[in-house]
Amino acid sequence: MSLLLTGIAELTTNDPARGDGQTDPGDALLGIVRDAALVVSDDGDVEWVGPERDAPDADERRDLGGRAVVPGFVDSHSHLVFAGDRSAEFAARMTGTPYDGGGIAVSVAATRAASDDELRALVAARVAEMRAQGTTTVEIKSGYGLTLDDELRSLRIARELTPHTTFLGAHVVPREYATQRAAYVDLVTGPMLDAVVADGPGTLAESIDVFCEPHSAHAFDGDEARTILEAGRAAGLSLRVHGNQLGHGPGVRLACELGARSVDHCTFLDADDVDALVAARGTTVATLLPGVEFSTRSPYPDGRALIDAGVDVALASDCNPGTCYSSSIPFAIALAVREMGLTPAEALHAATAVSARSLGLDRRVAPGQPAELAVLDAPSHLHLAYRAGVPIARALEL
Ligand code: NIG
Ligand code: FE
Repeated sequence: MSLLLTGIAELTTNDPARGDGQTDPGDALLGIVRDAALVVSDDGDVEWVGPERDAPDADERRDLGGRAVVPGFVDSHSHLVFAGDRSAEFAARMTGTPYDGGGIAVSVAATRAASDDELRALVAARVAEMRAQGTTTVEIKSGYGLTLDDELRSLRIARELTPHTTFLGAHVVPREYATQRAAYVDLVTGPMLDAVVADGPGTLAESIDVFCEPHSAHAFDGDEARTILEAGRAAGLSLRVHGNQLGHGPGVRLACELGARSVDHCTFLDADDVDALVAARGTTVATLLPGVEFSTRSPYPDGRALIDAGVDVALASDCNPGTCYSSSIPFAIALAVREMGLTPAEALHAATAVSARSLGLDRRVAPGQPAELAVLDAPSHLHLAYRAGVPIARALEL
């Protein structure tokens, strides 16, 4: 049964060639079609897109009542596999205690103590929470297990909910290895990585990630991060990096040099980092995570300057129990507009087209593409930032 969706006041296609008026630069970037319609095939693919007046017939019709439709958000950075929370750590931060990654050990202990079923239920609830806010694709990292068995368990559970899983055994050096850092790097790059790719790269994890942060005693320095990323690449995984979150450091340049798909946070950047990101355009995306700056009281990076320099900028939630326990992409969009200087169109593009590219996906709304869409209780995408905090976005259920 094909389905014709009508009553779409504004459709964001992410396909500049498809836009109608293209008078506004934002409209052109988003490929906006006003008074649009869409036909979705039985198997969930887009069959036809265009102005409603030209729409073909279909087996069924649904009128969306003048709402805006946008590509479903692609949350390309999350840490959903954890138990417990760290609300007390958050409260302490709001009165001045800085974030240093030390609290990750608290989540590691809670996660190891949880049963498979408990953990599975927690992750499934978080993915459902995301969907209810318009996210249709999510990347999920391990990283709160930090033993071979607990990392594999985290990835297996994540894999039940998304194909976009990332091995983050190198989140921090766990307490039991605090005096043997090199032995932990050997464990991550040896037995853990071997087990992750035992059934072929991409089966349990498609990427490897590392928290490259010389400003945290718990995370990994540039040399350690290079060792971990090179091992992951040799094992057939694509690369993602947590870089330059707490201060200036080697993470961004390392990610660009090694051809990572994404370097995430990018909070503290110098001119060399920006040059490296510009040179890596088309390969390495800079994923900004404004919920983290919000929740750690950090300064926000200058997203405007990055886009003006020509960097590929994505937006994601980083939903995790420490630095940002928010699964809301509309919240990230609102922060990016208010605090990072992105236009509403650039922010939506960053949280759909560019974040998708960092996962090797195409999220244009075009014939042949999966109909992964979000509907807004509002007539235009501008309302995502304008109506901050109001739950206007949800995944479109077909
Ligand atoms: O992306 N920075 C490293 N990892 C997470 C935070 C993890 C935590 O504090 O639990 C992040 O910010
Ligand atoms: Fe993260």
